[in-house]
Order: sequence, then structure tokens, then C-alpha cells
Amino acid sequence: MSHDPAPSRTLVNVDLGQRSYPIHIGEGVLAEAGALIAPHLKRPFTVIVTDDNVAPLHLDRLGKALEAAGIQHRAVIVPAGEASKSFARLESLCRDLLAAGVERADTILAFGGGVIGDLAGFAAAILRRGVDFIQLPTTVLAQVDSSVGGKTGINTPEGKNLIGAFHQPKAVLADTGVLETLPPRQFRAGYAEIVKYGLIDNPEFFEWCEQNWRRVYEGDTGALIHAVGVSCRAKAAIVARDERESGCRALLNLGHTFGHVLEAATSYSDRLYHGEGVAAGMALAFRYSVAAGLCSGQDAGRVCNHLAAAGLPVELADIEGELPDTDSLMQLMEQDKKIAGGKLVLILARGIGRAFIAADVPRGEVRDFLSEIREPR
Ligand code: GLY
Repeated sequence: MSHDPAPSRTLVNVDLGQRSYPIHIGEGVLAEAGALIAPHLKRPFTVIVTDDNVAPLHLDRLGKALEAAGIQHRAVIVPAGEASKSFARLESLCRDLLAAGVERADTILAFGGGVIGDLAGFAAAILRRGVDFIQLPTTVLAQVDSSVGGKTGINTPEGKNLIGAFHQPKAVLADTGVLETLPPRQFRAGYAEIVKYGLIDNPEFFEWCEQNWRRVYEGDTGALIHAVGVSCRAKAAIVARDERESGCRALLNLGHTFGHVLEAATSYSDRLYHGEGVAAGMALAFRYSVAAGLCSGQDAGRVCNHLAAAGLPVELADIEGELPDTDSLMQLMEQDKKIAGGKLVLILARGIGRAFIAADVPRGEVRDFLSEIREPR
């Protein structure tokens, strides 16, 4: 069943009253960035925040697009990688933005992957008590997840994203053409977040993914725009209902609690990218749902088969190197920020497209499950 209409552009609206914003998705959006951004600027000036991976590949093109619309620009380039989501980098970025002349009424541009969106978005939230920003995501993960919904922040030794703010962008410009330059492993990791939207509440989209993932991986424009568009529309709908995650937004964490345990167990290293942790975490959430008598083994099997076919980890054995023992994995789960009032909250599933928030999952059963999958009989 292939029913993507293969448009060259898709427009999704995040409906948040006065803070609503458009997401422009399509190949070549970057070339039109000047015209798309100009209406959001109070003067023809902006500062681009990007990293040293994205800058050599795409900064020139963005600069030319801004100039074509008469927008003057400066750029602040930070080192690529998760380590830039730190207090030290936030401080230097804020000072660089002030030195570049950012005023209270200006808009800055976050041009990069999830790290740049989170860091520049948080800087925008606090600089001069808050300036506007626009997201120009350049990775799959950022285009389908982190650039939409206004979560911004940095990491500390206590954990990831524990310091931050909800600060919605004024617009998101997702050029699917830039995904061509992503390393294949990073592309695959981002794809896990696309599959996630099918698993949450859209079984037809999951089926589309099963049938079309190769086209997505090959960079087929229509398939990519469809996948990013459906994902952004799904996220926008959830964010519009629950902007600050007091309810259904938690569904977006499907796979994330098991995934964060695995990311922490591998020291947030290259052994497991975030999206790979989400893939393995979604497989585990479905298998746990089967063990808890909630979901059919057939559905969990389909989830695992699709993720594995798409080159993503679904078993602990798929993760390189040794993992800690069951008690240590359990301790890491206890530290996850999705614990609420001492209760273990997991996103589980009654089937494909039937995810739900399980608010008080018995720790003993989770421990038994982890023990079982660590050392299958
Ligand atoms: N990435 C999950 C969320 O934005 O809520």
C-alpha cells in the first residue's frame, strides 16, 4: 500500500494559539530560507548558530539564501557533538550572540541537528530574557522530533536535558535535501523516531514504513517528505494537546525509558546513538508488553523485524561490548526522569499504533524482564 502523494513541499502547522508556527518541509527549502524567514524578522539581520560539521557543508548556501532576501547575517560556529550541550558552551554562545549584536527584538537561527536546536533554543530562551528563534534542522532526528515542540536545554553530570526551558520556535524549515550528507548510521538512528509515530497511534503509517523504508533510506524525495511530514504532523498534534508534557506528550517517549537505560549503560558513547537506543527501547517496550499480557507476540515480532531489517538494534546482543548486570540496569532505570512520584512510568503498547502511558509499572516485573533478556534461557 503506497499512498504517499510525492509532493515537493508539505506545510504543517503547530497549533498553539498566539505561539503557533509553520513547519516547511521539502527538498530545496534551504534555498528559499530568506523569503521564508524574512516575515519573522523585525529588521533585516540575524545570527546563525551552527556547528563545525554543518558549517562547511551548508552554511554558505544558507548565507546566500538570506542575502537574496536582503538579510544581513553573522554566524557562531560551535563544536559538533553532545558535549556542546553544557553550561560552559551555553555561556560562551550567549556571549558570542551578544557580541554579534543580537538585540531583544532579533531572531536567531538554529542550523543543525538536535544538539544545535537544543543549545541555541535554550540560549534564545534566556538571552536578553528571551529572543525569538527559528529551527533549521539538518538531521532526520531533528527534522522529525527535536526541532518541533519547543523543548530546549543542556546536559549536566546529573543527566541529559535536566536544565532547559520550553521555548517554541517561530518557524521550522526542514530541507529534506540536506539529509543526503548524513552518515548512514546517523540517518538510520533518526529513522527510529519516524517508526515511533506509527507505533504510537498510526498503524497505517507503520505499514507504510514496512513497505517504503528502502525508498526513505535511498533518499527518494517523495518518500522522505511523506515520512517527515507524517512525523511532524503527529508530533504537532500531540504538542498542541499537551505542550508541557503533563499528559499525552509522554507518549513521544515510547522506547525512551529502556533506551535511556541502554544509552546510560553505554556511557552515552558511540556504542549506541540516541536513535539506536530508541529503536532497541521500542523493541523492549513491545516485548515487555507481550510479557505483561498486554500485546500480541505477532505485533511485537513485526516491530522487531522491521527495526532489524532497517539496520537498527533490537536485542541487547546487538549492542557492542559488555552491558552492566541486571541490578545496575535497574538502577539506571530508577534514575530516569520519567519516574514520577517514585512510580515507574513506561510507555507500553496494546498493539501496533496502540501505545499508552502505564503510570505505575511493577518494578519486580521489569527487573525479571531485564534479567530474562540479559540471559535468555
Ligand atoms: N522528544 C520528545 C518530546 O519532544 O516531547
